[in-house]
Amino acid sequence: MFVDATSNAARPTTHIKLHGPEGFEGMRKAGQLAAACLDMLVPETKIGVTTERLDTLAREFIFDHGALPACVFYKGYRHTICTSLNHVVCHGIPGPRVLRDGDTLNIDIGVILDGWHGDTSRMYAVGDTKKRDRRLMDVTYEAMMKGISVIRPGATLGDIGAAIQRHAEAERMSIVRDFCGHGVGQVFHDPPNILHYGRPGEGLKLRAGMIFTVEPMVNLGGTAVKVLNDGWTAVTKDKQTSTQYEHCVGVTEDGHEIFTISPAGLHQPHQTPG
Ligand code: MF3
Ligand code: CO
Ligand code: CO
Repeated sequence: MFVDATSNAARPTTHIKLHGPEGFEGMRKAGQLAAACLDMLVPETKIGVTTERLDTLAREFIFDHGALPACVFYKGYRHTICTSLNHVVCHGIPGPRVLRDGDTLNIDIGVILDGWHGDTSRMYAVGDTKKRDRRLMDVTYEAMMKGISVIRPGATLGDIGAAIQRHAEAERMSIVRDFCGHGVGQVFHDPPNILHYGRPGEGLKLRAGMIFTVEPMVNLGGTAVKVLNDGWTAVTKDKQTSTQYEHCVGVTEDGHEIFTISPAGLHQPHQTPG
């Protein structure tokens, strides 16, 4: 079930890798670079800017810092970031679409630094967003942080999912079931799957040394999702807004460490009231 990561960390296996201090240090550096890239994009997400411009800026930033984009060539994906607007749930493809007043935008970035994968996403509010969309962004962020807050050795994956689900559903919002978090490290997507719903006490028991993402997608409307013909873009079937946040987290002896905290403290979008 579990395996010491130092012997074979770069190999995808069915086992769950348990990382030591060098894994945590590698993830700290990769996570900080990914988060710094999302910070760099904050002043760039303005009305009139195309999503492919944001992709170019992210790619150049990553190369300038001696890292590689994790998403380029990943299962045939060709871009550095995913740009998911409004009713796009995840895996939106950067292109000529310009940002418009009121858009909610998720930017998801994967970087590889010294072999370690930093994977994080957050929301950007373009101009004046709708009040209910701002509430959705807040609740999604809070749900992710509530899920992360229960992470410690002996807690279960169900405890994480339940904490996230409880917060979103209390606001009459819904959790996407079709995508989940994942083990991460020297492999981009590794076991286990991290579901963003569940029941307390159920599922795998966490152990110190596990490293995985928590990345809930929360919808204003129903949970139903479909993938467009491009093979990537996932959208809500009812076309209502969907938002997402993502952190990389490691289980420590007495709790957890978040690797992808925003160095500039820009995790939540600046939202103009109204
Ligand atoms: N960053 C996404 C995740 O959180 C994966 C995107 S896969 C891509 O797991 F190919 F679309 F980039
Ligand atoms: Co991820
Ligand atoms: Co991601």
